[in-house]
Amino acid sequence: MNADPVTLMKQQVGYAAAAKVQSNSIVGLGTGSTTAYAIQAIGERLQSGDLQNIKGIPTSFQAIVLARQYGIPLVTLDEVEKIDIAIDGADEVDPQKNLIKGGGAAHTQEKIVDSLADQFIVVVDSGKLVDHLGSTFLLPVEVLPMAVTPVMKAIEKLGGKPQLRMGVKKAGPVVTDQGNLVIDVKFDRIDQPAELEKTLNNLPGVLENGLFVGVADIIMVGEVKDGQPSV
Ligand code: 5RP
Repeated sequence: MNADPVTLMKQQVGYAAAAKVQSNSIVGLGTGSTTAYAIQAIGERLQSGDLQNIKGIPTSFQAIVLARQYGIPLVTLDEVEKIDIAIDGADEVDPQKNLIKGGGAAHTQEKIVDSLADQFIVVVDSGKLVDHLGSTFLLPVEVLPMAVTPVMKAIEKLGGKPQLRMGVKKAGPVVTDQGNLVIDVKFDRIDQPAELEKTLNNLPGVLENGLFVGVADIIMVGEVKDGQPSV
């Protein structure tokens, strides 16, 4: 069965980003379906001998599982001086390379790793490009469980419409790798993402929100042209 166009775009851009990784480097491994293709391709390059001496810094439990599956050795931030390159997906990208992330509830660790990288490459399909942030995707905010209600009230005062993220079949809330909950917020329009990022993170009980302002270096976009995927 042929893959759908979005899957093809994700594959192409994931593989293209993996091709940019060089031997002897520390690589931040992002989270999500697009980054999964990059992790797979990095692992395959390692196994074939095309790449040597790569160490991965995972951004989530999902990234740990995939890195193990594809044979990428992992290290922690305590063991490295720096991260050479990070590859990660995004849910929205604006023309200034600002992002909304956290569709996979992993934005807290992602922001730590992606911000530390000398070069942060964002891998997205063309459907993620927007004129301004908040157009299509709700903004994820990771919150300590005991603070969910006051944080939701504070977000409403800021003009946002918050909802607690529920898991599959709404059987219970989504729990992050850190044991916290995620509030997804609809803002009519995010005009000043840098300011909103700081304001949200200042609310007691908020760990991190999904606005990534001034963090991305390169945006790689998967497209389908004439029925063929390209980057
Ligand atoms: C996880 C993320 C993902 O990178 C983002 O949701 C994009 O995912 P995908 O590549 O599956 O579309 O931020 O927290």
